[in-house]
Amino acid sequence: MQCLRTRLFQIILMATLATLPSSSRAQDSNNIHYDQATHVFRLDAAGMTYAFGVNNVDALQPIYWGKTLAATDPLPAVHTMPEAASFDSPADTTPNEYAGWGGGLYPEPALKVTFPDGNRDLVLHYVSHAIAGDELKIKLKDIERNLFVELHYTIDPATGIVGRWAVIENKTSTPVMIESAAAATWSLPRGNDYSLRYLSGRWAGEWNLQKQPIRPGETILQSKRGSTGHQNNPWFAIERGEHPDEESGDVWFGALAWSGSWRISVEQDQLQQIRVTGGFNPFDFGYKLEAGKELTTPVFYGGYSGDGIGAASRLLHRFELTKILPQAPAPKVRPVIYNSWEATGFDVDEPGQEALAEKAASIGVERFIMDDGWFGQRKDDHAGLGDWYVNPQKFPHGLKPLIDKVHALGMDFGLWVEPEMVNPNSDLYRKHPDWVLNFTGRPRTEARNQLVLNLARQDVRDYIFHFLDDLLSHNDIAFLKWDYNRNWSEPGWPAVAPDEQKEVYVQYTRNLYSILSELRAKYPKLEIESCSGGGGRVDLGILRLTDEVWPSDNTDPFDRLRIQDGFTYAYTPGVMMAWVTDSPGWLNNRTTSVTYRFLSSMQGSLGVGANLKNWKPEDFATAKQLIEAYKGVRETVQHGSLYRLVSPRDGSEASVTESVSLDRKQGVLFTFLHSSQMGYPFPRVYLRGLDPKMQYRVTPIAGELTKDMPAAASGAYWMSHGVDVQLRGDFQAAAFRFDAAP
Ligand code: GLA
Repeated sequence: MQCLRTRLFQIILMATLATLPSSSRAQDSNNIHYDQATHVFRLDAAGMTYAFGVNNVDALQPIYWGKTLAATDPLPAVHTMPEAASFDSPADTTPNEYAGWGGGLYPEPALKVTFPDGNRDLVLHYVSHAIAGDELKIKLKDIERNLFVELHYTIDPATGIVGRWAVIENKTSTPVMIESAAAATWSLPRGNDYSLRYLSGRWAGEWNLQKQPIRPGETILQSKRGSTGHQNNPWFAIERGEHPDEESGDVWFGALAWSGSWRISVEQDQLQQIRVTGGFNPFDFGYKLEAGKELTTPVFYGGYSGDGIGAASRLLHRFELTKILPQAPAPKVRPVIYNSWEATGFDVDEPGQEALAEKAASIGVERFIMDDGWFGQRKDDHAGLGDWYVNPQKFPHGLKPLIDKVHALGMDFGLWVEPEMVNPNSDLYRKHPDWVLNFTGRPRTEARNQLVLNLARQDVRDYIFHFLDDLLSHNDIAFLKWDYNRNWSEPGWPAVAPDEQKEVYVQYTRNLYSILSELRAKYPKLEIESCSGGGGRVDLGILRLTDEVWPSDNTDPFDRLRIQDGFTYAYTPGVMMAWVTDSPGWLNNRTTSVTYRFLSSMQGSLGVGANLKNWKPEDFATAKQLIEAYKGVRETVQHGSLYRLVSPRDGSEASVTESVSLDRKQGVLFTFLHSSQMGYPFPRVYLRGLDPKMQYRVTPIAGELTKDMPAAASGAYWMSHGVDVQLRGDFQAAAFRFDAAP
């Protein structure tokens, strides 16, 4: 009897196992599965499946990336693709998760090295793996030498965004020169109907969204400048099909977490396979990896959306807010700030700043930030950078009286710094001319009359940390605007051996990160903005250590609509600082109303940068009312779901954005009319993302709906019937909030 029961139990167990998907019989975690029988790894979350396997020659071969597959769907063992011609060997026809340059590989390698004996062939094969929680590590090794690569994969359960990076380990007995090292290669399903979106720009003209078909060949997005750069941002999105749009279609996207020189290559090979490889920029790169040492690459994040690029952006926004930012998973809302730069330039002093602070406090500003000009012998941009003492002529009693005044007015205090730079006209440079990036005996090219300190040097790193530590320990400073106003030239590091000098590309950025993280650890309440002459240093690396960014020095409220639109493809409005400045604006000489300027800035994290000394009483009244209104919707604007309803790009005469709170109880609508044409009314706006069954009451923040619009209606009504906004003229704007009726 006993025996029969045991036998019965065994049969039931085996039958149950047979019906289970193979992965659940394997070693796995909630979101990462490994099938021993097929050698296939599978990452699943938030409607996305990512799969790859160890193939017949022990290489890691991508299998699938896209909309989630059923747990029971077969993902059989993988095999190398056959030689397509004598010109297309399996190394080229077979996609690879992380290919060493070797064995006749022609697509971009993930890793390229030179061994001291001249061997440059590297072929990486699977050795072992480990899964712990939402992280998978895979160990690869060269087929002959003790050069190891540990690939890391993390998956975010809420967004399905996969993080990938590599740790290169030299376990040989001699140094190895690393000539290029990517974080990852992403392979998309084979196809010929893809298009690439990326961001381009320049100083005061950042965040232009570009779109081009992916054709055979290679497109390079990059910075060779030592920092992220205004010109390309380390973000891409790839759409498939003829007519993908904001809310429909397959989209693969990625962003690189690195603030130094970077590169993302997008390739379509001769077999219509798409590979996206990103990491350190191989240009002028060379990292001498000593025996026993490791090099860790940046992280390359990748995600997929089946619901268009709007949903892709929302996934990235959510990921940034909950996983990247220093205050993740629940960042505080950004305070409304005042910044002195456009009002006073370098002419800051105690009475002038105090007068501005009083006016700023009167309209509801919560943080007062003194910009450039407070330190050293800084009268203009010719002198002072590097000398971080408080200028005694401008602030005879130090910063304390101003900070106390700002506090007494109910605001906290922020300060501008540009720690990585030096003017040749400074005590620091006179004392340490060897501290800047330079090649011995060669000219040192200045930009804005400044040179770049070589932060890769330990002494420079220590100097910068200590002056900031000193500033923060002696003054009650809640916020630093950390600026960086030029790119590298002559990036030499003469103090180290010639074959180590190119490590500046890695060590500089690492030291920047280490200063930021050490400061944050020591001053946990400190918040930091990343600025680089506007949006020159915005990426997921710096966003791990800073709370907001300055997207552009261009504060023209009309230009900003496009700048802000482009920005949100990759980054959350919750970090997008936007100031209301004076009219006509300094850049385009465009005249706009206070309301228009405020509504443009209220699409992000609101600031005021105007010269309040010139404002009229009615300007203060409008500003006060709109700042109050902003505080009632900022949680939704900064942390909600963004819908780009009407694009300001491509000569559009209107633009509209909507943000919906996570509980869907509030929607906020911003509408802008660039110029009325032929007497047509403003286009009807169809909201998105509301709860169709919930009742929402509409309240104007500024402007009016047409008279026949109801005061309250269901989410279904606002989304399907739409909203008619009364806007006529040039540079007109209106905004509304939709609140769930109790
Ligand atoms: C850069 C910043 C500006 C301002 C100036 C000060 O250009 O982007 O906002 O801080 O520096 O010199």
